[in-house]
Amino acid sequence: MKEKLHNIKTRAERDVLEVVDSSRLKDVQVKYLGKKGEITQVLRSMGSLSKEERPIMGNLANQLKVEINSLIENRKLELAQKEKAAQWETEKIDVTLPGSMPLIGQNHPLTLVMEEIKEIFLGMGFTIAHGPEIETDFYNFEALNMPKEHPARDMQDSFYISEEIVLRTHTSPVQIRTMEKVAPEVPLRIIAPGRVYRRDDDATHSPMFHQVEGLAVDKDISMGDLKGTLLLFARQMFGKELKIRLRPSFFPFTEPSAEVDISCVICQGKGCRVCSHSGWLEVLGAGMIHPKVLEISGYDPEEVTGYAFGMGVERIAMLKYGFDDLRLFFSNDLRMLRQF
Ligand code: PHE
Repeated sequence: MKEKLHNIKTRAERDVLEVVDSSRLKDVQVKYLGKKGEITQVLRSMGSLSKEERPIMGNLANQLKVEINSLIENRKLELAQKEKAAQWETEKIDVTLPGSMPLIGQNHPLTLVMEEIKEIFLGMGFTIAHGPEIETDFYNFEALNMPKEHPARDMQDSFYISEEIVLRTHTSPVQIRTMEKVAPEVPLRIIAPGRVYRRDDDATHSPMFHQVEGLAVDKDISMGDLKGTLLLFARQMFGKELKIRLRPSFFPFTEPSAEVDISCVICQGKGCRVCSHSGWLEVLGAGMIHPKVLEISGYDPEEVTGYAFGMGVERIAMLKYGFDDLRLFFSNDLRMLRQF
């Protein structure tokens, strides 16, 4: 029996050392000290021993029990320490490593151009007005002299929400909303920047784009004021040498109406691919406010006159930064965005 106990001791020692994962120590404990464990079995078989031998063997067996127990406890501590050390190793922080810079955002090129346009007009005494992007048929069309069946509505293929509600197709409804509020007071000089929506989608059109509307109402405003203002704007935006020209055009809410061209910013008017060899680039629509529009907004067209213009911000930004595809503005490509 002594030999048997000795044998158990050697195997238990080996088993304990072989355990590398502290959760497995329980198995060793069960194997030797559990209800059906080897030592327990030995203690149970004491009955077959002589009276003299019994206490000696019992003592030895109990001693071994204590020994194995403390072997297991020690191993448990040892493994716990090792596990902690391994954890520290993987989670170690190297305070000498260079830090990683937080990503700092920047303005979108359209925001930059929009800000620049605003600055220029603020400098000329204009203030900024806003209107809703979800607009009524009345403000978007009707009040701008485009009744329901007017063919000019076809120029602005629209997103209708219902028969009377539309995503505004231009910033011109802000003309009406502002005049309604201010009339009959003069002078009135505002620009209205914002998003507009049309059912268009190609390299030079996006279903959502930006416009800046301009509006001035006062006594004796003439087309000369319009042209002077736009020339000043264009030169501040694109450079002192720039020229502009007005071509006769049509809008139901201005009379007379004009398309405004600037001399090509790429070839300085000599003719190139961008300006289709004409030397000119179309940048905005403008005109003298139609008497009917003044009237519906609360002004007396016999007393005051005014001009209005509307420019596409994407168009201006494309020319300024040399983009040939408008969709780039909305593709969220960081390689492009980080250049601004
Ligand atoms: N609203 C017109 C458009 O989007 C532009 C415009 C504005 C024309 C003001 C004349 C006067 O096409």
